[in-house]
Amino acid sequence: MTDRHYRIAAIPGDGVGPEVVAAGRRVLDAAAERAGFRIDWTEVIAGGIGIDTYGVAIRAEDVEAAGAADAILLGAVGGPRWDDPAAAVRPEQALFALRGGLELFANLRPVRVHPALVPSSPLRPELLDGVDLLIVRELTSGLYFGRPSEERQAADGRVAVDTLWYTEGEIRRVVRLAFELAGGRRGKLTSVDKANVLATSRLWRKVVEEERPNFPDVQAGHQLVDSCAMLLVRQPAAFDVLVTENLFGDILSDEAAVLAGSLGMLPSASLGERRTAHGRFGLYEPIHGSAPDIAGRDLANPLGTILSAAMLLRWSLGLEAHARAIEAAVGVALDDGYRTRDLVPPGVDPGGLRVVGTTGMADAVIDRMSSAPEPVEATVADAAVAEAGRR
Ligand code: NAD
Ligand code: IPM
Ligand code: MN
Repeated sequence: MTDRHYRIAAIPGDGVGPEVVAAGRRVLDAAAERAGFRIDWTEVIAGGIGIDTYGVAIRAEDVEAAGAADAILLGAVGGPRWDDPAAAVRPEQALFALRGGLELFANLRPVRVHPALVPSSPLRPELLDGVDLLIVRELTSGLYFGRPSEERQAADGRVAVDTLWYTEGEIRRVVRLAFELAGGRRGKLTSVDKANVLATSRLWRKVVEEERPNFPDVQAGHQLVDSCAMLLVRQPAAFDVLVTENLFGDILSDEAAVLAGSLGMLPSASLGERRTAHGRFGLYEPIHGSAPDIAGRDLANPLGTILSAAMLLRWSLGLEAHARAIEAAVGVALDDGYRTRDLVPPGVDPGGLRVVGTTGMADAVIDRMSSAPEPVEATVADAAVAEAGRR
């Protein structure tokens, strides 16, 4: 046993959040036990349960406590109980307090297609061949944070306004990170915007053009968001890294989840500039929501959260080999036929597959984690990750 230890804040949240976070925690604890490090967990109450407990989605001191950890693992927040459009406090405010308050401006959403899950996607198999893309979503500006954002009474009735706002600096920092990540992958960057309509998109394009000369090894192009949405299902293998503003990234990543077989498969990492003793501070969460329709029934797919836990090891704790061990174990569990219900296509006989619940899937992954992961040789991709992590 070494005395290496790491501090992780767990935020289970609402709906299926507690179920998938429990699965992610078990996988991380299993990795720690096998590798001889320790995880000190703190649990933070946030989301709808935060409103029920404290009257706010998340308390300021809890944002601070979570920010003081090495990383955060979050499930999901929200649900029909807190959906009253007239309510002033909403569960989703917890996400914005964490993302904005901790300056986590870059949300990385990788999309890979595991070969065994090709039949789980409604797309034709040949379209899924070679799909391996990364959506880099700006996370702390745009329509989500622009002010004013409110409803008013006007002479001719109610009017509502949201503000789409971007500073040059907000665009530049996320675009630079996307260029760096593309440089460590296949060297292709697609910047997604609506420059034919929006002033913010035209500024976005200018910044991408200004950054292009700094990354001569990356081939960068622009794509309008509407046609990008179409190309994502028509020719998904053509994409490498996509970088886009907050709302476009939200929508395109749920669409891209269809490639991977289910919304329950996609992980994410939200990163800022801050370094910890071991890596880059970050918040890790699956891209799906609280899935109220299946909550509390051991039905949720935990793999998006488990793969988020792997990203946590990679980015915030500097444990690349252990991250890969988890990703490999997920692959073997899928190869061995383990499926949560969302991964079984409708109308298909699951004979031959092992249909399991949330805990059964976590068990299958843990059973397949190697006790001594191979040390990884530095690759170009690792170098880019390390480089991006140093900034
Ligand atoms: P959702 O992602 O919760 O669910 C959409 C559909 O996908 C549902 O049919 C659900 O059952 C299914 N699904 C989602 N995750 C799954 C999983 N892990 N395994 C199997 N099936 C899964 O989206 P929604 O229903 O539009 O939103 C529900 C609530 O979640 C809303 O309050 C929304 O604001 C919130 N939400 C939170 C987050 C977050 O916390 N980061 C993200 C998205 C939505
Ligand atoms: C996500 C979610 C959130 C977002 C919601 C719940 C506010 O959809 O994390 O993708 O839009 O960012
Ligand atoms: Mn979303």
